[in-house]
Amino acid sequence: MARAPIVTLISQKGGAGKTTVTMQLAAGLARRGRQVEVVDLDMQESASRWAAAALPGHPFPAKVHLFTQAPLELPDKLAKWRKRADVILLDCPPSIDHPRTLAALNHTDLAIIPVVPSPTDLWSTRAVERLIVSLQATRPGLRGVLVPNRVMRTSLASDVMAVMQEFDLPVLSTLLNQRTAYAQSAAIGGSVFDLGSAAQPAQLEVLRLVSAVVKQLGVKA
Ligand SMILES: Nc1ncnc2c1ncn2[C@@H]1O[C@H](COP(=O)(O)OP(=O)(O)O)[C@@H](O)[C@H]1O
Ligand SMILES: [Mg+2]
Repeated sequence: MARAPIVTLISQKGGAGKTTVTMQLAAGLARRGRQVEVVDLDMQESASRWAAAALPGHPFPAKVHLFTQAPLELPDKLAKWRKRADVILLDCPPSIDHPRTLAALNHTDLAIIPVVPSPTDLWSTRAVERLIVSLQATRPGLRGVLVPNRVMRTSLASDVMAVMQEFDLPVLSTLLNQRTAYAQSAAIGGSVFDLGSAAQPAQLEVLRLVSAVVKQLGVKA
């Protein structure tokens, strides 16, 4: 069996949507029959709490492991989780200087950088881009993509999205709009797929995101 790819959600700021994208992606991949293991590297334990909020009899569709140990211990743990996973998702702390973020990037195949289309998020994304590009010098297998998140139909958002196209890292062809369904699904410990037809626009976005990520990984959909 091919080695399970590692997809890491990183950003320099909290609130960009790392945990939201991690959990929706996990649920979307699970719907496509993938065994997904999520690793929560953030001391805030958002991904772990999200899964723990699941309703009785309706567990979150991927296993979420809380990892708060020393970064040196990450490789052994990843090797263990990899045995049963088709895909591993790493949800990072909100800092690119954090030792666990740096440890995660050492093992990453695809780094996904959620970007809220605002000037401040754009500025902090430049630092993430610099880090990824510098790591690529020694790890050519590392890829990074920007994913617009919390997109609203404003002229500011359009302007920022246009600037994003000028980054060295590619912008994924799909995005997540600002939708209450994303926050609602955290409250029930599930995903937008648990919210019925009212959440259909969000479900379609997540399905498109899953397809784009699968394509990036070069894994047969
Ligand atoms: N696309 C979205 N639409 C609406 N709310 C969102 C969206 N993405 C994230 N959020 C909300 O923004 C907040 C921060 O998101 P989160 O995923 O926790 O970010 P991070 O993990 O990067 O700190 C949460 O309250 C979450 O529900
Ligand atoms: Mg988070």
